[in-house]
Amino acid sequence: MSFQYLGSASHVPISQQSLTSSIVISVACILPCLIWGFFKILSLQSRRDHPEGCRRLGLSGKSHLADEYDDRYKGAVEGQQNGAHTWRVKSLWVYPVKSCRGVELETGTVLGTGMEYDRQFSFAQLSSKFPVSANTPREEKAKHTWKFMTQRTLPSMATIRTEVWVPDPSSRTYSERHPNVESGGVLVIKFPSIQSEEGFIGKLKDLFSLVFGYPEREAHMPFNPTPEQIAQKGYAVDDMEIWKDKPRSLVIASTEKADAWIQELRSYLGITNHLALFRVSTGDQPREVYRCAPRREDLGYQPTVGFQDAYPVHILNLASVRDIESNFQKGAPPLSARNFRPNIVITGGDAYDEDSWKRIKIGAYLYYVSCRTVRCLLPNVHPVTGKRHRSEPNRTLKDFRCIDAGDPKNACLGMHMVPALEDNKIEVGHEIKVLETGEHLYIKQ
Ligand SMILES: *[C@@H]1O[C@H](CO)[C@@H](O)[C@H](O)[C@H]1NC(C)=O
Repeated sequence: MSFQYLGSASHVPISQQSLTSSIVISVACILPCLIWGFFKILSLQSRRDHPEGCRRLGLSGKSHLADEYDDRYKGAVEGQQNGAHTWRVKSLWVYPVKSCRGVELETGTVLGTGMEYDRQFSFAQLSSKFPVSANTPREEKAKHTWKFMTQRTLPSMATIRTEVWVPDPSSRTYSERHPNVESGGVLVIKFPSIQSEEGFIGKLKDLFSLVFGYPEREAHMPFNPTPEQIAQKGYAVDDMEIWKDKPRSLVIASTEKADAWIQELRSYLGITNHLALFRVSTGDQPREVYRCAPRREDLGYQPTVGFQDAYPVHILNLASVRDIESNFQKGAPPLSARNFRPNIVITGGDAYDEDSWKRIKIGAYLYYVSCRTVRCLLPNVHPVTGKRHRSEPNRTLKDFRCIDAGDPKNACLGMHMVPALEDNKIEVGHEIKVLETGEHLYIKQ
């Protein structure tokens, strides 16, 4: 009797306890599975097949800038070759879409227009002339201009990722007649998909995105469409204003044509104007480069650019970046070379050595160093998060890098270059030889 009594008395709380703990244990086990399953479904939904007949351009492993904050890059790097200072290519970058995330390369080709795959696309928004008065003629009021877009005014563009998939004969799906191969590859644009869905699933997705970030929206387009593909896809041509130029360019996607992905991108960026993606139109008049660049008489060709700001190639010395950073006020975040969106990052000699370079050789190829790069506010934008820092590096640059009498109010860092030939190879690790130094005087646009 007493045994039974004792037993039942202690039995009730124990079974309650074990019930609670078994619920806790099962929830702890099942919940991660549920979350995993949910994201598996999400990623399957948003996954697109890799472009057929192609491979992804660029590094697959660790970035060559992964150790850029290392102390040894603060000045001349010794021991690269028998203890002497040797300039070398540290990292190579192309930015297929202007002002969007770049692609890091191991080897590349430098054309007369700059690095292959660099700045061949640009987003633009349709803006009207403001202000218009009541008696402005109707046609004048209706006039709209496509103006190129940059991180200078829209820092969040830094979060738009780009990939280039290039034709690869070793791919199982490769064939010379494949549209992806005929177009010289495929451009892929990726950005967070923030479009909310209706109903319970939509709510659940919103909840998960708070913790895990948004799923990715992905758009594919031919890298360099053939005339047949242009006709078949109905790409129009229009003028796109970039600085003082208005090159005729291909309209690849536009909210005017209600292309779904670009509508989504427009709401992601929070733009009210029409938004379009333009591509350099290879058949049309290219943007010729004069100012400080060498001329046709010297080169045998007139340098031109795609959607770069001014010159074909931009080179940056990592020691100079480290030195700028060492002058920051306390509390400023570390400064990456990536903030300056260079094509070529070099290491070897001291900071600012490059300021007086006039001609250099990279590997076996000759480059004219045309002028210094005058900096705007863009380097204040974090290259990954797209957040703009309130003061750095602008403040420090302005402090002591207003060094060019051609533009004495603005700071300089890095150099603009024009290749001597129209087809050059470049590779990480290539040695750089300085052939000529001298004066530079910036010529404003
Ligand atoms: C950039 O720095 C200079 C010098 O500190 C300052 O006068 C200027 O206002 C800064 N520009 C912006 C937009 O923050």
